[in-house]
This record gives sequence, structure tokens and C-alpha cells, in this order.
Amino acid sequence: MKHFYSRGFPFHRGRRLRNNRNISHLITETNLSVNDLVMPYFLREEDDDQVAIKNMPGLKRFSTNELINELKIIQDLGIKTIAIFPKVDEKKKDEHGSESLNADNLVCRSLREIKNKCPNISVICDLALDAYTTNGHDGVMDRNGQINNDETIEILSKMALLFSANGCEIVAPSDMMDGRIKIIRETLEKEKFKDTIILSYSSKFSSNFYSPFRDALGSKKNLANSSKSSYQINFKNKREAIKESLEDQHEGADILMVKPAMYYLDIINELKKNTFCPIAAYQVSGEYSMIKHLSDKQIFHYKDVVLESLYCIKRAGADIIFSYFAKEVAEWLK
Ligand code: PBG
Repeated sequence: MKHFYSRGFPFHRGRRLRNNRNISHLITETNLSVNDLVMPYFLREEDDDQVAIKNMPGLKRFSTNELINELKIIQDLGIKTIAIFPKVDEKKKDEHGSESLNADNLVCRSLREIKNKCPNISVICDLALDAYTTNGHDGVMDRNGQINNDETIEILSKMALLFSANGCEIVAPSDMMDGRIKIIRETLEKEKFKDTIILSYSSKFSSNFYSPFRDALGSKKNLANSSKSSYQINFKNKREAIKESLEDQHEGADILMVKPAMYYLDIINELKKNTFCPIAAYQVSGEYSMIKHLSDKQIFHYKDVVLESLYCIKRAGADIIFSYFAKEVAEWLK
């Protein structure tokens, strides 16, 4: 904080600047644009009839064909980047999440279709095993119930190659294993995918706010009472979160992420002071659901609350925001 000398009232009247509409525009410190937004989408197999997402009203799971139509709409609204998350058929899940490396899995098929029909949309693909494992964990589990770090990052680096080969420009490891960015970066370089961007979920907390997402993916019942706290960060820790992001930057991440967003603004702000990398923030499923449910009950004015939430995330220092509100916000900003 700069040294602050005030002669006090009435020399200082802060309301002079707030009273005048034109001046208040001139002194606005934070801007929000459609260029800042990433819209996440849930994918389902064509023959999966579970379309609605119960705990995320207003959203649905898209078949690949439906997604292509949707992308034409959001492109007109100015959204250029999406993130995709597959709801994998339970029958295809196993202990090792082997469906993640199937060249014809839901993500790969969707990627090829998107690149073919909407080549100007950039696609961010999650690298983690929770969508593919029978136990709902982000990594493979040893017989003793421990998540095997080194085996997991080998699989993730193969996933990164597979998705890159199918047209994904941005891979996003969301698993919080140690050393994953290093191994993924080395693997991509070795196989000549020099331009694949790594957006690391680098400061990712073990959060209760992911619960509607896990429902949407069908990983919640698989995870049951098990916790991800052996790899995701304890929400009581700030320095540990910054250290994890800086390690990922050092290992070769191009973009860092803080997740969740709204209750973690101090983390975004602290990271901003400690890096020159672009910072993404993920306004997660639980944050979406809270605002949506209270708005549906007419307790909140939907549009105003959504915009406040996004402006505040930007004010804290985020350059990029993943938000389930992105499509609607793009309409409002137009
Ligand atoms: C998968 C993943 C999760 C989210 C994004 N990628 C869930 C988790 O880690 O359990 C959460 C997104 C949201 O809640 O909207 N690793």
C-alpha cells in the first residue's frame, strides 16, 4: 500500500467521483469481455438418454451432433474457446481408466467432429482419469488403496498425445499428480507436438464445490465416500497452492489455473503477484448451482449476481474465466 495522506472531509468526498456517471465509467478499473470466457460442455454418447443435469439447472449433456449446432450459436456470440468433459458409459470404465486411451473414445470422436465442422473453435481437454475409472479417482489406485502417481502421469502423457493428434490445442491436466506437467511437456516435445498448450489446473483445491460436476460426469457415486485430498490441495493452505502453481510453471505449463474461483480470490491475487503466466480461474459447478438455484427462487437477481461474480474474479487478477454462465454472459455483453 502506498503512503496515504488525507486532509479528510470535506476536501475528500469520494462520492464526487461516484456521483457522475461519465466519470464513474472513466475510473472503472475492471473490464469483462467475451474474449475472457471459456464455456465448459458435458458430452454424452449418442444413445445415452440422460440429457438433463439435475443439480445444474439450465445445462445439459450434449451429444456430439448437438454440440456442433451449439458451437455455431456460441461462435456468433463471440466465444472462441470451450472445455469438454465426457460422461463415459459405466460399462467402459475400469480400474485403470483404459478408455481414456481409446482413440475412438467420446472425446476423440468429438474433437475430430469439432475440428472438421467448427475449425475456429479451440478445445480444452481435461487430462485426468476420473471420467474413466470405476473408483472415480483422477489416478490409478494401487492394491493398498494409494493413488499411484508415476503410473498415472505416464497415462496422462499418452492422453495428451492422443488428444493433440485428434486436434486438441490445449490440454488441461486437472489431476494434481506430481511431475505431470514435466512428463507431459517432454512427451509432447518428443513427439513433435510443439504447439500444444498446457493449461495446468495448478492450484486446484480439494473442494466440496465440485459435487454437481461429479454428478454430471457420473463419477460421484463411484467416488462414494472416498476423498481426493491425497492429491488436491487443502483449502486451508495458500502458500502451498502458490508453490504448486510455480512448480508447474517451472515444469512447462503455459497457463496456470486457480480452482474454484469465488471463495479463492486471495489465491488468484497472490498468484498474480508471483507469476507472469496468464491466470485462469474456474468458477466451478457448485458456484454455478448456488447462484442458479437462488436466482430461480427469486432471491437473487440472476444477471446482476452473475456479472458481479465474474467481475470480482477478474478484479482479483484472473485473465481467463471458465464459467458455466459464459454463453449467457456473451449474450448480455453483445
Ligand atoms: C476432473 C475435474 C473436476 C472438475 C474439473 N475437472 C472434478 C474433480 O476434480 O473432482 C470440477 C469442475 C466443476 O466442479 O465444475 N479432475
